[in-house]
Amino acid sequence: MKKRLSILCCLLLSVPLLADEGMWLPALISQRIQDMQSKGFQLDADAIYSINQASLKDAVVLFGRGCTGELISNEGLLLTNHHCGYGQIQQHSSVEHDYLRDGFWAMTREEELPNPGLSVSFLDRMEDVTQAVLAGTTFDMEKDLRDSIIQANSKELIASATADGNGLRASVEALYYGNQYFLFVYREFRDVRLVGAPPSSIGKFGGDTDNWMWPRHTGDFSIFRIYADANNNPAEYAADNRPYQPKQFFKISLKGVQEGDFTFVYGFPGSTREYIHSEEVHYISEVSNPHKIKLRTLRLDIQKRYMNADQAVRIQYSSKNAGVANAWKKWQGEMKGIRKMNTVANKKAYEKAFQKWARGTRYERILPQLDSLYRILEPYAFATDYYNETIRTVELIRFAQTAQQQLSRQPEKFQESMAAFYKDYYLPIDKDCFVAILKEYQQSVPENFKPAYYQEQLKAYGSIEAWADDLFSRSIFTDRAQTEAIAPNTDFSSDPALEMGSAFQSWYNEEILPVTQRIQGQIRQLYSDYMRGQMEFESKKPFYPDANLTLRVAYGKVQGYSPADGIYFQPTSTLDGIMEKDNPEIFDYNIPQRLRDLYAARDFGRWEVNGSVPVCFIADNHTSGGNSGSPVINAEGHLIGTNFDRVWEGTMSDIVFDPEVCRNISLDIRYVLFIIDKVAEADHLLDEMVFVE
Ligand code: ARG
Ligand code: GLU
Repeated sequence: MKKRLSILCCLLLSVPLLADEGMWLPALISQRIQDMQSKGFQLDADAIYSINQASLKDAVVLFGRGCTGELISNEGLLLTNHHCGYGQIQQHSSVEHDYLRDGFWAMTREEELPNPGLSVSFLDRMEDVTQAVLAGTTFDMEKDLRDSIIQANSKELIASATADGNGLRASVEALYYGNQYFLFVYREFRDVRLVGAPPSSIGKFGGDTDNWMWPRHTGDFSIFRIYADANNNPAEYAADNRPYQPKQFFKISLKGVQEGDFTFVYGFPGSTREYIHSEEVHYISEVSNPHKIKLRTLRLDIQKRYMNADQAVRIQYSSKNAGVANAWKKWQGEMKGIRKMNTVANKKAYEKAFQKWARGTRYERILPQLDSLYRILEPYAFATDYYNETIRTVELIRFAQTAQQQLSRQPEKFQESMAAFYKDYYLPIDKDCFVAILKEYQQSVPENFKPAYYQEQLKAYGSIEAWADDLFSRSIFTDRAQTEAIAPNTDFSSDPALEMGSAFQSWYNEEILPVTQRIQGQIRQLYSDYMRGQMEFESKKPFYPDANLTLRVAYGKVQGYSPADGIYFQPTSTLDGIMEKDNPEIFDYNIPQRLRDLYAARDFGRWEVNGSVPVCFIADNHTSGGNSGSPVINAEGHLIGTNFDRVWEGTMSDIVFDPEVCRNISLDIRYVLFIIDKVAEADHLLDEMVFVE
């Protein structure tokens, strides 16, 4: 039996990196290029990333704070997702000009809409700076000292990398838990204008019902344009800025996609944790996700009720609601996926084998130490999750805290925050959510992890409802006029919203954060060793660093999957599926009349394929949040689509990748072109693009 087990273990451990898992660093892509080419890719490593010549990386941007976009013309035209441009589209919308509902298309350059605060960044170069960052440190040195040396070294690298100015921005990022460091130098452009967006009935077709799901029919795209100064350099918005001429932009393939075709997603995945300890996976799938899901269900139900009753409220809460719903649904898929994959048990088996291997080495104390640290951390992590998903989600409290902070430190910023807050604030939603989530808080959080303030208040009020009534009627922040009238240096610390926010924050800062930080610091340090240990333990396996919102290459192929016994999902969807779902009675499935008419007339123009129009496709590229809007590239390096989602059964890929079901979902570029051409009739934009038959 024992022998069998160890053979099994060896088999388990010697499995090479399966299928198309992995998010690779562009500068090191020469290590993967043979594999890519063996799977069909026809270009060489220099075409993907080069610092000497224009390469595909020069056509990819980090869009805003956490999306990707790609250049599709030599006049700065940029394609990203509808949900990535959502905040901007909403910002320009009102009940009279509802661009979320009706879409928006600039028919001339003058009509393109500026978006203060939005920026896009091109990766200028990336460079392994491990030696420079670690100079003067040793592994056994005292942690704080080591961290401060690393920080000082990084700061110096950043300063010299950005000395030229010209929109340069840089950061030093740790990979493999600090076993490797890379310098990333970006060029950041700040004049980015909205060119077009389809109505939400196309761009968010299927809404949160279809989100994270396949088969999918969402036309999830929007179009922007980057502007630069007269020398083609980054500049703040100015009316006479000119369209940016990129070093490279994507040519668009009209060949289409077929099951088995090579695909390559080039973008900025935000965060993955593939190498964590079983205890942490257990916490995620069995504790954290279930509780966070429960809390968000309460809020979503309340938001939906008010949004359905009033169109103004629907606009106000559309972006907030989408954000809450998105993670809520992902966590559910992730939890199921982790359970189905048996990840906790598999990690435990792996840890056992690792431990056996590590005996007598410098790695032998890591796992037992991690285990006991996680035991200390967990109740604190739980309290933090609850704090973040309850008190920190009460809009009034957050705004009160912002007000206090800005009025004392940055009064010039307050006007803007105030305008943004009241534009999208609807008190009945906030108040109902307050009651619902605090009831859940009361039940689920152990008494010794609740602030004394909370216990006293609840006792004094007698009920959470009474507390809410008082707080929402007495706080001055519920009223814009009163808030506007606050005189400088007013002490409003007794305002009930601010008082509650401050009390919880102090409790968190004093009781929760110090322990959390101390333990997490120790855990991080152990992970640095554990990561190195894992790489030695499986010295034949090609490792890739966890995602950290830096540019990555994920390659794979177009491929269907089986979500459950007896079902196989084809990898492509078409306009026929949109018509099958179309239903004027259901908000998420009520398509524009124009689309119905085109379909009835079979008026698909040059975008027709087999009597319909291709809409979406799936592939097994390893992607994550942040890859939204990423270019999807074919074997020849041409654009075939834009990435916007993953399938629900595969959302655990941030923690564990299952080649059987992990699929990214992309919008077929031909659907984008069809919408621009036939629905929006903005075909002047097509004239800027370059098509390859
Ligand atoms: N699931 C995709 C992503 O993570 C699309 C999100 C769009 N938002 C939504 N609530 N439908 O970004
Ligand atoms: N929709 C996600 C995003 O905003 C991409 C989907 C995913 O998480 O894979 O980045």
